[in-house]
Amino acid sequence: MPPTHPSAAHAPSLRPEQSWFTEARFGLFIHFGLYSAAARHEWVMTRERTTVERYERYVDVFDPDLFDARAIARAAKDAGMRYVVLTTKHHDGFALWDSAVSDYSIATSRGRDLVAELAEAVRAEGLRLGLYHSLIDWHHPDFTVDHVHPRRDDPDAHALNDGRDMARYREYLHAQVRELLTGYGAIDYVFFDFTYAYDADDWRGKYPEDWDAERLLALVRELQPQAVVNDRLGIPGDLVTPEQYQPDGPMRDADGNLVVWEACQTLNGSWGYDRDNTAFKDPDLLVRMLVDTVSKGGNLLLNIGPDGRGSVPPRDRDSLAALGEWMRLHARSVHGAGPAEPALADALAPGLPPGVVLTQRGDRLYLHLFAWPFGHVHLRGVGDRVRYAQLLHDGSELHSTRIDPDQQAWNTTPGGQPPGTLTLHLPAGRPDVAVPVVELFLDAPPE
Ligand code: GLC
Repeated sequence: MPPTHPSAAHAPSLRPEQSWFTEARFGLFIHFGLYSAAARHEWVMTRERTTVERYERYVDVFDPDLFDARAIARAAKDAGMRYVVLTTKHHDGFALWDSAVSDYSIATSRGRDLVAELAEAVRAEGLRLGLYHSLIDWHHPDFTVDHVHPRRDDPDAHALNDGRDMARYREYLHAQVRELLTGYGAIDYVFFDFTYAYDADDWRGKYPEDWDAERLLALVRELQPQAVVNDRLGIPGDLVTPEQYQPDGPMRDADGNLVVWEACQTLNGSWGYDRDNTAFKDPDLLVRMLVDTVSKGGNLLLNIGPDGRGSVPPRDRDSLAALGEWMRLHARSVHGAGPAEPALADALAPGLPPGVVLTQRGDRLYLHLFAWPFGHVHLRGVGDRVRYAQLLHDGSELHSTRIDPDQQAWNTTPGGQPPGTLTLHLPAGRPDVAVPVVELFLDAPPE
């Protein structure tokens, strides 16, 4: 009988048809739109207080002639990602699909439907499809000016809201979401973005009621009942979405219950293509962030920003390739894995060298060695549970011994370890992978 472990009981639960999400652990975010041509952050329109008329000049020049959905889907798959999330419309309002309620789209300007192209490519690779959709719309004439809107500093800014009617915008928003949820087959994940339910500088923020969040969520539940929905409508969804920071532990709700979470992260601080921004995270850091995420029970949604022609920039491509190289050898410690059993993790912690991060999948415990220790890893409190130990990248056995608790540390003999400690013996040379991993085969805890 396969050993069972209590860790599953601690996992927050999605509905069965949504469980692919926590199994996947790793996905690709794609930010692409008119701002990719500006090449200085996807918020360029509001950062530079650009008028709609001026911003629209990108429509004429923006030509994603090098946007290759199949190549992107393949790159995601090769990186070990299990799902892909595309910006259907960002805050600038420009649609990447053929919208019946708007001409402000790539379908009108270039005769393309990038949502359709990507949906097909993603499914062909056996990946899940997520759609990001901006609740905010700086192009729509009825979307009211507020403290993040490009027109906020106009001399007559407040007067601009006379005649703007959020009810009309809401109709448009719901109509576009309906199109996306009816025209592209099964959608696995809907990422709305975002609600800012606070007032500032004499401006009213945007609240769940501005989107009629309840009705929008109900629309998703009706049209795509299996879809996982995020929390940025401003009302609870299926998961929470920390952005640009790593939570310091498993995430919980206010009552202390574990919740499903996904950290979305950039490669260089910008979501959209940002030509002159070279603040790229090192690929080794990205691997450590992925491991850190899984060890805390979360998902990592890692972003790329295709350039003004839709091509994946070399740095983005290289980062995905480096992750893929690590995942090729270590996917077992990520896919379907989560935090280690709490009792085991607590017992192990005091004996482990610095920088060991644990994940577990069923009867396998994974020790990610962020810093390569010299010689020994002492596994306290494991009793007889470790059946076998190996390095994961090459499947090479690691010897293990028990150091007599009564043994004194002396010239060449290490000190004894508490009863129940198993000591692993590591080679001196650090394996040439971004993060070396030890895989332990565990037996079930004694009754
Ligand atoms: C945000 C930003 C944004 C980005 C997103 C990703 O809230 O407004 O530009 O698309 O989060 O999570």
